[in-house]
Amino acid sequence: MQDRFQRHINYLRISLTDRCNLRCAYCMPPEGIQWLPHNEILTIEEILAVVKAGVEVGIRKVRLTGGEPLVRRGIVDLIKRLNDIPEIDDIALTTNGMLLGAMASDLKSAGLKRVNVSLDTLNPIRFQRITRYGNLEIVMCSIDTALEYGLEPVKINTVAMRGFNDDELVDLARLTLEKPLHVRFIELMPIGTSDDWSHIRFISSQEIRELISKSLGNLEDVKKVTGSGPARYYRISGALGTIGFISAVSNHFCATCNRMRLTASGQLRPCLFSGREVDLKQVLRSGAGHDELVCIFKEAIMSKPNSHDLTASWEKDDRIMSQIGG
Ligand code: GTP
Ligand code: 5AD
Ligand code: SF4
Repeated sequence: MQDRFQRHINYLRISLTDRCNLRCAYCMPPEGIQWLPHNEILTIEEILAVVKAGVEVGIRKVRLTGGEPLVRRGIVDLIKRLNDIPEIDDIALTTNGMLLGAMASDLKSAGLKRVNVSLDTLNPIRFQRITRYGNLEIVMCSIDTALEYGLEPVKINTVAMRGFNDDELVDLARLTLEKPLHVRFIELMPIGTSDDWSHIRFISSQEIRELISKSLGNLEDVKKVTGSGPARYYRISGALGTIGFISAVSNHFCATCNRMRLTASGQLRPCLFSGREVDLKQVLRSGAGHDELVCIFKEAIMSKPNSHDLTASWEKDDRIMSQIGG
């Protein structure tokens, strides 16, 4: 369905858990956060009820996120049951890759179509430094396994950070020469990090593009890579994969935003940067039926704000990306 600003809303990002097996420096403190108690997280049945309501108002694509969605018990069963909903034509997963290799076969059989994997560096020591508990070798193997199982397109999410991985961005872009990977550079957003930290580390997409084309030549425009997100894609001449830019800070993609978010605690959130949410968990647990959920879903879509402005003040809340669902 269309919202008040003629945007077609067809994509639901579902956060399955606020928990994560890593502690990326820009996302979480080393000690982790106060995890939600289990009874405050939506059950698999409740998530399915929300998706079925979403389908009635035009949701066709779902993405499972976290925290780390693969630490959520029941994820394979959830994917199977999402795959049984005929209207849902795309089921994708955003993961840190630590558990992906071991689970890829089950995920594929259950009906998962594709994965996006976080990878901020190709240096094992840096990888451990940024993720605190991560292992680069495991994640690189997971990426290859995802390609082998055809969980494609396989997209790589790289958060660009000055003084941390700016000297590696060209090498990360080079991955697309050898493998059919889609490496997306994400502008560091002031969520979960102190404003100071994210300002000092911030590198714009424009700067990254210039850096890459200086070393690897002209970047050709690419019309479409399967997906529903805000990235813009380019190709190094002759490359197997593409390079994408997610300019969450420097460039407004709000005009074409097609998504709603469901947080792990059951809040339906119309915009990543707006605290306005509808408490679906309470609605579900007070016995609401399908029709009531559909109505509430519709209202939430109609409340989706026109735009966010990260360079000015925005309706900040104190939650981090893993609690909202990336
Ligand atoms: P596809 O294009 O369908 O593959 O998905 P995607 O790029 O939306 O998914 P992914 O979870 O990999 O997101 C990549 C990055 O884009 C993450 O850092 C997200 O936080 C960011 N992102 C995704 N959706 C939005 C959005 O609506 N607004 C903003 N500002 N950032 C977003
Ligand atoms: N800015 C930009 N990207 C972020 N992610 C998590 N926190 C931030 C942030 N503050 C990214 C992760 C992952 C994706 C889902 O969100 O690296 O790739
Ligand atoms: Fe976990 Fe993703 Fe946050 Fe890293 S960015 S700590 S992988 S939720």
